[in-house]
Amino acid sequence: MPQPSPRNKTLRVDPEERPSLGRALLPTPQHPLNALPEGILHARAETVLPLLPKSAVNLLFLDPPYNLTKKFGPETFPRQSTEDYTAWLDAWLEMLTPLLHPQASIYLCGDWRTSPSIHAAASRRFFLRNRITWEREKGRGARNNWKNNSEDIWFCTMGRQYTFNVDAVKTRRRVIAPYRDPNGAPKDWQDTGPGRYRDTHPANLWNDITIPFWSMAENTDHPTQKSEKLLARLILASSNPGDTILDPFAGSGAACVVAQKLGRHYLGIECNEDYCLAALKRLRHADTDTRIQGYHEGVFWDRNSKEPQTAAKSRRKAPHGD
Ligand SMILES: C[S@@+](CC[C@H](N)C(=O)[O-])C[C@H]1O[C@@H](n2cnc3c(N)ncnc32)[C@H](O)[C@@H]1O
Repeated sequence: MPQPSPRNKTLRVDPEERPSLGRALLPTPQHPLNALPEGILHARAETVLPLLPKSAVNLLFLDPPYNLTKKFGPETFPRQSTEDYTAWLDAWLEMLTPLLHPQASIYLCGDWRTSPSIHAAASRRFFLRNRITWEREKGRGARNNWKNNSEDIWFCTMGRQYTFNVDAVKTRRRVIAPYRDPNGAPKDWQDTGPGRYRDTHPANLWNDITIPFWSMAENTDHPTQKSEKLLARLILASSNPGDTILDPFAGSGAACVVAQKLGRHYLGIECNEDYCLAALKRLRHADTDTRIQGYHEGVFWDRNSKEPQTAAKSRRKAPHGD
């Protein structure tokens, strides 16, 4: 068997870690709960959602299987007709809506094929605010079609009032033309040690976030893992410290891990035990290491822009290299 590269940081759960991680799973609720539990629940979400308290969730992150035939561990999610996928998604939103606080925000992930279903199902219940297009960079090349390397993340709210912390999610970009005002002071940019930068309003086209890959400490074996930087941007914009985030398709736990790192409460539900254990292992690391790659000291760094040396150095000394 080929040995993985020493630079491969993909997180794996060793057999001897499974019992102790397994004990950290939340117990499966047997009756309606008065408060939302915090942690990772190994269950089919549809069996648990009816038992959760109403109006308790401030931010719903919904990253369901897309309408592709895709394997998640031993389970295969089969491709359906668009009508059937819309009905499937609608049934999930029907179960989830009562759990949402009147000022909650909702992010729904999909791709070009499932976006019409998301639009149809979400617009029946929520205010549609925007559609973020994420250029995730990697995608499978096609001989007779365009390579699909973008995803859609729909932003919705329950009501007219909702949290949006725009100053928390500005993007730091390198200044190409550093204009100065008549007194010689920087016009709308800052000189911050390693370079000249401007903090710009975040747009709905995201091209500064890669999918996690093997040399990143956050990477796991999950086939469709979202990156922590992406989750950090959503969570910082649309929740406040102490708020509660629900992720019913938690996968490798990206939303839960970032929620913990940013001081939010979270509940992740995932039907695959291996993914649950990987999420719990990530959460253990996050107890002592709250860094988020690409986000440092309140700033989202543009892809390939240089983070301050202190950040880069401390990253190299990361205690949790797996
Ligand atoms: C698109 S992935 C989510 C990836 C996740 N956001 C991450 O960053 O790792 C969808 C996940 O939903 C899980 N899943 C599918 N049906 C489910 C169900 N009925 N209840 C709970 N989890 C389910 C799959 O096992 C898969 O891990």
